[in-house]
Amino acid sequence: MAVLKKFRPRWWPSNRQAPPSDSRPNIALVPPVNVRYDVRPLTMSQIDECWRLDQRCFVDGEAYSRDTFDYLLTAPESVAYRVVMQNGAMAGFVIGLLEPEHTGHITTIGIAPEHRRRRLASCLMETIESGFRRRDVRIVRLEVRSSNVSAQKLYLNLGYSVTQRLPKYYSNGGDGLLMVKSLDC
Ligand SMILES: CC(C)(COP(=O)(O)OP(=O)(O)OC[C@H]1O[C@@H](n2cnc3c(N)ncnc32)[C@H](O)[C@@H]1OP(=O)(O)O)[C@@H](O)C(=O)NCCC(=O)NCCS
Repeated sequence: MAVLKKFRPRWWPSNRQAPPSDSRPNIALVPPVNVRYDVRPLTMSQIDECWRLDQRCFVDGEAYSRDTFDYLLTAPESVAYRVVMQNGAMAGFVIGLLEPEHTGHITTIGIAPEHRRRRLASCLMETIESGFRRRDVRIVRLEVRSSNVSAQKLYLNLGYSVTQRLPKYYSNGGDGLLMVKSLDC
């Protein structure tokens, strides 16, 4: 995920905004058998659900603030999708931004822990790449924690390559890797 310094609180624990609590009982963490998924656009209407899910996906203190989601979902250059179950509940999301010079920047992707290894992230990545292509994007870039091997495997499988190491890119001092993929083909 990308560090968006302008929007992310500098000191996570003290500036932490608590996400709105989910009033539903916490009993639905095992997906139903034969669950079916659907990919849809992600908009401001889902900001609180997405913010809550982000907190569950990024437990290392790098979760985005609500202000960051506000920006990411309202910016004209935003391209964002969610994956939902039949009941409409969100199982994952991906958010990107259109940048100059035909570049698309994937800022974050997250899949709820109980829905992982079902190719949902792969599906969301392919969907956002199609969204970028329709907007004349030719190069996609993203940042990933050097220790986040599962995400790196996901990106490598989809044709991304590491082009640069980003020392101390994350606020806890962890390095990042810049990965890119050409959509020209
Ligand atoms: C990384 C993440 C988005 C992957 O989501 P996912 O839906 O489980 O990924 P997919 O099922 O599409 O996996 C595709 C491939 O990625 C790799 N991969 C994904 N998760 C992996 C894991 N835990 N360990 C090893 N490889 C993994 C595998 O090669 C996998 O293919 P396979 O299942 O056929 O072996 C998810 O684990 C997540 O939300 N993590 C926390 C947030 C995060 O790290 N986001 C990325 C920030 S850069």
